[in-house]
Amino acid sequence: MRRLFPVTDETVARTQEEVEWSLAELAAAYAYPEPVPGAGSGGREPWLRANMVSTLDGAAQHDGRSQPISTATDMRIFGTLRALADVVVVGAETVRQEGYRPARARAEFAELREAAGQGPAPAVAVLSASLDLDFSLPLYTSPLVPTLVLTGAAAAPDRIAAAEKAGARVVIAGDGVGVDPARAVRALADLGHTRLLTEGGPRLLGQLVAAGVLDELCLTLSPMLTAGDAQRIAGGPSVAVPRRFVLESLLEEDGFLFSRYRRP
Ligand SMILES: NC(=O)c1ccc[n+]([C@@H]2O[C@H](COP(=O)([O-])OP(=O)(O)OC[C@H]3O[C@@H](n4cnc5c(N)ncnc54)[C@H](OP(=O)(O)O)[C@@H]3O)[C@@H](O)[C@H]2O)c1
Repeated sequence: MRRLFPVTDETVARTQEEVEWSLAELAAAYAYPEPVPGAGSGGREPWLRANMVSTLDGAAQHDGRSQPISTATDMRIFGTLRALADVVVVGAETVRQEGYRPARARAEFAELREAAGQGPAPAVAVLSASLDLDFSLPLYTSPLVPTLVLTGAAAAPDRIAAAEKAGARVVIAGDGVGVDPARAVRALADLGHTRLLTEGGPRLLGQLVAAGVLDELCLTLSPMLTAGDAQRIAGGPSVAVPRRFVLESLLEEDGFLFSRYRRP
């Protein structure tokens, strides 16, 4: 893999190198911003990054999954971003369609996580209004870190009870059945989760964009065309004024572009 941006002497030296980056190099390339001195939550304001993959023609999935438009290096970056995060925030439909499992503890990242004051694996936080989730799955019954279920105050009490009985921790972050995105970010930060990573899906990401709580987008551009009517990476009503982001870094391998954009 090679770095296309920012261009430094090292970038130039490595431009033609088709070597695989180590996980440590990837972790350094995707490090969360340093905490602001004196800020809340143990010195760290929440930072919400999204990691998404899109085809050249804007599809965020093929046959209902993102795997067909991904690649091995994309999955290595996906794993690295998880390893850097306190919590992985995900919409219920992605959990259902992609068959989410608990995040694993990975020996390669153990030292890094310990140095960052993190447990062995990130928690997974599932957003759901219906709570129509299969609480008998390992995601809820046997994660390393209890799975969080974020929902609204008006969610069905029997489903909340089912989630808790399975071992999940239910967090109320909305007044109706749904979750208020800004409240969700704050609630997670209050639990000590300030390095947030969302893996979508598009309906969730659209709300995070609209609420103005997204700080960073790690977008893999997959050199594929799918046509069809797949979702884009962010859906829902459009924002009044397009949100401008700034390019932080751009990596390339085998025609896949791994970009990292952040809010100005
Ligand atoms: N390309 C990529 O990088 C990428 C990433 C992730 C997913 N995907 C693909 O995207 C598809 C699924 O995405 P999606 O957009 O349909 O769904 P999604 O965003 O994953 O999940 C939507 C569901 O999340 C819950 N939810 C969302 N916002 C909520 C809120 N404010 N309050 C409470 N619950 C909320 C609701 O669950 P309930 O229905 O339970 O109430 C809603 O139905 C899959 O095909 C997946 O493969 C692609």
